Amino acid sequence: MGIEIDILNGDASWSIAEPLFKAVWPRHVVEKQPWGHIEWADPDLRVLIEAPSGGLACHVGIYFRTITWNGRKFQIGGIGGVSTRADCRRRGYAGVALGAAIQTMRDHEAVQFALLFCEPHNFAFYQSRGWHPFTGEIQAEQPGGKIRFEAMAPFVFDFRRAPREGVIDLCGLPW
Ligand SMILES: CC(C)(COP(=O)(O)OP(=O)(O)OC[C@H]1O[C@@H](n2cnc3c(N)ncnc32)[C@H](O)[C@@H]1OP(=O)(O)O)[C@@H](O)C(=O)NCCC(=O)NCCS
Repeated sequence: MGIEIDILNGDASWSIAEPLFKAVWPRHVVEKQPWGHIEWADPDLRVLIEAPSGGLACHVGIYFRTITWNGRKFQIGGIGGVSTRADCRRRGYAGVALGAAIQTMRDHEAVQFALLFCEPHNFAFYQSRGWHPFTGEIQAEQPGGKIRFEAMAPFVFDFRRAPREGVIDLCGLPW
């Protein structure tokens, strides 16, 4: 049986994604995380996979952003909000959704590389799917001004560039 994947406008599809976000990241859990106070950007697109039993099984947010790397401007893609409903995990949905997100970013020729942020328990998941640690510094905007973003670890997926170190300024909210 095939998996049905939709890639929709981020704002327009928030109502579809919202129940999954509330289940995977309930407010009382988020508040206790080291990243619980961070203000996040909204995705431009969402990859959505429907559960065979109905409802949303898996979500991956896609972001497009002009950042600077060592002071030079680059257009890049971002991945965030990767989540699979608890009863749908370990069926390959997140892997498939990530693949669809990579393909979508690859289709935008200007995108030089992709960037995501994750916690240590997910490092192996991304590294086994071709993502590389970025060991440099990440800067991002927050309502109070620019911060050094250290709440989660950055990982890079190479398209035309393969940054591993230096300073990346997200030039906006993180994702
Ligand atoms: C992390 C997360 C998104 C993974 O979602 P998922 O849909 O279960 O991911 P997949 O099924 O693609 O892969 C998960 C594991 O199941 C394995 N798997 C995939 N299909 C499988 C199958 N049919 N049978 C058994 N195992 C399978 C994969 O190999 C993978 O293991 P690996 O990382 O050792 O390779 C999910 O656990 C989640 O939502 N966690 C909470 C939120 C979170 O941490 N999000 C990440 C933010 S960066």
